[in-house]
Amino acid sequence: MPPQPRRIYLDNAATSWPKPPAVVERVHRYLAENGAPAGRGAYREALEVESAVRSVRSSVARLIGADQPESLVFTANGTDSLNLALHGILREGDHVVTTAAEHNSVLRPLMFERQMRNVQFDVVPCDGDGWVDPNAVAAAIQPETRLIAVTHASNVTGVVQPLAEIGRIAQEHDILLLVDAAQTLGHIEVDVRQPVVDLLAGSAHKGLLGILGLGILYVRPGLESQLAPWRQGGTGTQSDQIRQPAEMPHRYESGNLNVPAILGLGAAIEFLQDSGLPKQPCPADDRRLAQRLVEGLRAIQGVRVIGHRSNRTFVPVVSITLPGWRPADAAAVLDAQFGIQVRAGFHCAPLIHGPLATREEAGTLRFSFGPFNTPDDVEVTLDALSQMVSQA
Ligand SMILES: Cc1ncc(COP(=O)(O)O)c(C=O)c1O
Repeated sequence: MPPQPRRIYLDNAATSWPKPPAVVERVHRYLAENGAPAGRGAYREALEVESAVRSVRSSVARLIGADQPESLVFTANGTDSLNLALHGILREGDHVVTTAAEHNSVLRPLMFERQMRNVQFDVVPCDGDGWVDPNAVAAAIQPETRLIAVTHASNVTGVVQPLAEIGRIAQEHDILLLVDAAQTLGHIEVDVRQPVVDLLAGSAHKGLLGILGLGILYVRPGLESQLAPWRQGGTGTQSDQIRQPAEMPHRYESGNLNVPAILGLGAAIEFLQDSGLPKQPCPADDRRLAQRLVEGLRAIQGVRVIGHRSNRTFVPVVSITLPGWRPADAAAVLDAQFGIQVRAGFHCAPLIHGPLATREEAGTLRFSFGPFNTPDDVEVTLDALSQMVSQA
C-alpha cells in the first residue's frame, strides 16, 4: 500500500479544522467533569455552567460590538439563525431585497415565505467577483420593502460586500438589515453598530473556530417585539406559565442549549483574541496564504481564478475552474492522491453561478483557509494542480 499523503484541510469555509487545542480541552473538561444543563438546575455544576454560558454570551457580544449580551441568541447553526430571523421578522405582503451572492440558508427560507405567506423578494445581481453594487440594492427597494438580507462575504468567491453603503441605504429608507456573517466572523471585524445592523446571523464553527452545532443571532435591542419566536418550549424561566417568555434571550432559546459548543466557543474567542484577531482585515496568515494561492494559480495555464481582483477585500476563500476537470472529479483526485481536502460544486449558493459563469462546469473547486494552514499547504496544492492540469 502506498503511504497515505499528509492531510491538508482546505475546507475551512464549510467548518474550520483543526480546532485550537484549548477548545478541545474545554469541551472535554465540561463533558468529563460537569455535564450539567444551563439555566435549569440550582446545584453547583448547573450554576457553574450558567455563569460560564453568560460569560461566553458577553464575549460574543463584545466581539461584534453589541451593547447587551442578552441581544445574542444561541441557535443550532448559521442556518437556524437565518431561519429564525427570516421567519420571525417577515409578515404577509412584505417585500425583501436580497442578492445573487446569498447562500441557500437565506434563499430557501425566502422561497418558503413566498409560497406560504405571499412574501415577495427581489434578487440583486452581482458581478464576476460575486460583489453586489449598493446602487443596485437601492434601485430594488419598493414601498413594501421591509428587509434587506445580505451576506457579508460570499462563501464561493470570498468577496466582502460593501456593507457600510448597504447599511446606509437601509437606514435612509427605514428598512431592516439582516446580515449573514457566516463567512466573516473571526476573519474580519464585524460590528453591529457600523453600519447599524438589525439582525446578524453567524456560525460558531467556521472562522470563530468553535465546534459544529452552534450558531448565533444578534437581535437589535427593541426588535424582539417584531421578531416572532419561531420555536417555543422550555426555557428554564417562568416554568409555571404556558406563554413563551418575552425576555431576551429566553424568548428564542427554547430547549437545552448546546453547552459543550458554547463553552468551546468561549475558548475559541480567547484563542482568536490572543492571536490579535480579527482586528486585521483578515487573519494575516490566512490572507497571505490565499493570496499566494491566487498568484500561483494564475501562473498555471488554463486555470481560471474566480474574482479576487486587487481592489476588493476577500476572506480567505478561493474558487477556481480547472481545465479538463469537473470540479467534483478534481476534488476526489485531490483527496485520494494528494490528501488535499477541498469543496466542489455550487456551495449551496445557486444564484451566484450565473454571474460567475460557472454553471456549465457544475460549479467551482473551492479552497478555504484557516489559521492552522501553512505556506507548505499552498505549495503542495499548487504542485498537485499543475500535475492534474498537465494530465488532463
Ligand atoms: C454564507 C453562508 N451562510 C450560511 C451558512 C450556513 O451556516 P451553517 O453551516 O452554520 O448552518 C453558510 C455555511 O456554509 C454560509 O457559507
